[in-house]
Amino acid sequence: MTPLTGDQFRIENLFSLRGKTALVTGGSSGLGLIMSRGLLRNGVKVLIASRKSEKCKLALEQLKPHGECYAFAADVTSIDDRKALLQETEDKLGSISILINNAGTNWAAKLEEYPDHGFAKVISTNLNAVFSLTRDALPLLKKAASLEDPARVINIGSMDGIHVPIVQRVPTFAYSSSKAALHHLTKSLAIDLAPKHITVNAVAPGFFESRMTDYLFENYKHDIEDDCPLHRVGEPEELIGIVAYLSSRAGAYTNGAVIPVDGGTSISKGKRSWQD
Ligand SMILES: NC(=O)c1ccc[n+]([C@@H]2O[C@H](COP(=O)([O-])OP(=O)(O)OC[C@H]3O[C@@H](n4cnc5c(N)ncnc54)[C@H](OP(=O)(O)O)[C@@H]3O)[C@@H](O)[C@H]2O)c1
Repeated sequence: MTPLTGDQFRIENLFSLRGKTALVTGGSSGLGLIMSRGLLRNGVKVLIASRKSEKCKLALEQLKPHGECYAFAADVTSIDDRKALLQETEDKLGSISILINNAGTNWAAKLEEYPDHGFAKVISTNLNAVFSLTRDALPLLKKAASLEDPARVINIGSMDGIHVPIVQRVPTFAYSSSKAALHHLTKSLAIDLAPKHITVNAVAPGFFESRMTDYLFENYKHDIEDDCPLHRVGEPEELIGIVAYLSSRAGAYTNGAVIPVDGGTSISKGKRSWQD
């Protein structure tokens, strides 16, 4: 056990991220861009990845003033792209202290019209690719891993993997299934990778502003706020806060957890009162 000097309890030490390296998939927009900015502002070297190189370039322009950042265009569902992405990550960062599996997609349609290819695309991006990238990234994660300071895998799940989403009125069968499975995959990986000093946790966000939620915010913002016990959507720093916790000394003993960051939406009964 570390001798207790009191210094290790100081917030600036407990939550320090300085000197770490991070690969953030889907880092070119929305939540990935927010988390990348938060990591950079706290001294982490970051490489972001997403499919479209133009989006990566634009995101990089926004991120560069905040710290040492790189971008690479890669589709996480492609074997060749994953290989190239990890090679680029090794060249630029040397190792991965924090892998944020954030790239995700959605498909909404009525059951009768829900296509197999839509279902497959969502599962392939939100679930299969997380498994494959985490497996392929192991050599780089191990380089950054130690007993005192494990490497961290943070999977971005969703409150929709905890409850059945209804607010948008159109079902998202594959999305909520993929996120529920991702939460479970997180636990399996956490047990498997613990002996290698790699922790695996999932963050299950509620509603945050992004391209994915644009349409919902435009049409159902009132319902979204109504369904949330805190009566509001999430703010960027509330996402960065949980990522900082999971990536720092403070979160080193948290493993296999699925942490909702949703203002209590996933455990609420929504608009219905207890008497209904
Ligand atoms: N916003 C919310 O309220 C909310 C709530 C719960 C969970 N989430 C989760 O948060 C994550 C980010 O979503 P977001 O809301 O920030 O949406 P977003 O703005 O649409 O971001 C999705 C990101 O993933 C990238 N991406 C998609 N498919 C990819 C692929 N095959 N390979 C590589 N990159 C890919 C996109 O860039 P390209 O188009 O360039 O590939 C983009 O950078 C998702 O996993 C989502 O399920 C979001």
